[in-house]
Amino acid sequence: MSYILKHIFIFKRKLSLFVGGWLSMETKSSLYSYFSNNDGTDLRSIFDEYIDQQSIFLDKTPLLLNYTPSEVSHRSKEMKILAHILKPILKLEKPSNVFMFGLPGTGKTLVAKQVVKTLKDVADGKNIPLQTIYVNCRVGGLGNSDYRLLVKLCGLLGRELPRTGLSTKDIYDAFYNIVDAKKQAILLVLDEIDPLLTRKDSSFMYNISRIDEQLENAVVSFIGISNNVSLLNNVEKCISSTLSSEKIVFEPYNASQIYHIISKRAKLAFRQDSYTDSIIRLVSALTAKHSGDVREALNLLRVAGELAQRRSKPQITEEEVYDAEKKIKNDLLLSSVKSLTQNAKYILYIISSSSEDTLSVNDVYTKYKGIMLRLGKDPLTSRRIHDFINELETVGMLQSKVISMGRYGRFKTVCLPLEPSVKNEIKKMLEFELNL
Ligand SMILES: Nc1ncnc2c1ncn2[C@@H]1O[C@H](COP(=O)(O)OP(=O)(O)OP(=O)(O)O)[C@@H](O)[C@H]1O
Ligand SMILES: [Mg+2]
Repeated sequence: MSYILKHIFIFKRKLSLFVGGWLSMETKSSLYSYFSNNDGTDLRSIFDEYIDQQSIFLDKTPLLLNYTPSEVSHRSKEMKILAHILKPILKLEKPSNVFMFGLPGTGKTLVAKQVVKTLKDVADGKNIPLQTIYVNCRVGGLGNSDYRLLVKLCGLLGRELPRTGLSTKDIYDAFYNIVDAKKQAILLVLDEIDPLLTRKDSSFMYNISRIDEQLENAVVSFIGISNNVSLLNNVEKCISSTLSSEKIVFEPYNASQIYHIISKRAKLAFRQDSYTDSIIRLVSALTAKHSGDVREALNLLRVAGELAQRRSKPQITEEEVYDAEKKIKNDLLLSSVKSLTQNAKYILYIISSSSEDTLSVNDVYTKYKGIMLRLGKDPLTSRRIHDFINELETVGMLQSKVISMGRYGRFKTVCLPLEPSVKNEIKKMLEFELNL
């Protein structure tokens, strides 16, 4: 098969070289204009127009998620609490460990980094031996293995250790030795700490909260950060409740706080006349209603700007904001569909490709068996498929309804509560992914 494809490719290439050499320049250019205009699309003008058009953006960077603003607004209370908790470290006294909880985009990482940076600047200015270390426990699966995390921490403290091969005791001993090699204070920021609080086989939190027992010279404290407020209870279980730890909870921002935060970014990111104050207010109100996540607001603003630019508009209008909201929602939906298990994808494919708005669960199962038969695979039982349907419903991808037929019993129907165009996009994506 690949032999045939290779030869078709060589043949096509030879043909194009031959035709290219044979045609006169004149004929070539008339052919060029024929092909570029044959369906009325003037490609050149798309590019020419874009060059002439004034950009909506001055600089997109302040809207990107890794941008660090020069000021942190509306978190002075939390920053002060954190600073007061941490300040003993400047006298090489151990401060309480701190847990910071709050929904996504409420400024936890930003606040932690800002306070720790100022602390470090003060310590450096006064020659106080303080090392501050930041790790995101989700990056590179650090939180999934105590070993990996300890190797990373040792590396950040300046000692490379083998990535495998040591016993757990050896790796902890190596970590304690590096930390205790001199009189110093170490502050660890453990961001997205969730796996360390939820993993059954992790003893890291327990050991790190009792590290003093292993040390003679150094003091070590940590800041743990999570956006899963329900993990607050796990803290007591993971570290002994007798050991002191402080908790700071970050409330979601309201519309006027979001407005204040993002208008500063908008000033840096957009040309002055490419947006109005009411656009910033709209984005803030939509975000506050939905989540209070500043990241979401910044994203919405950026995508609205990109849509206005693509549509050659001189200014972002409400239309772009609402369209951006839809686009972000759809992109998110498509990426969560991608991460589903294979069987859940079959179910979603069956429902998204049906011409009916709703399907009975029995019909879904019949169609599922048909696909399995066609693919030569063994179908799962109807019960398992029902379970998958229930799971899809729990995560909000499906809606179901129980229809009563009086004395003939009841049956369940399912539907995708989406616009037809989105439904069709899901169908096409799954067709491709599942090789159907
Ligand atoms: N008070 C604020 N002032 C300025 N920018 C802010 C503020 N709060 C959040 N942001 C911005 O919002 C985005 C998200 O903030 P951050 O990463 O600190 O949230 P988070 O609470 O750590 O979220 P997650 O739990 O998802 O990690 C960042 O771009 C940050 O710069
Ligand atoms: Mg964060």
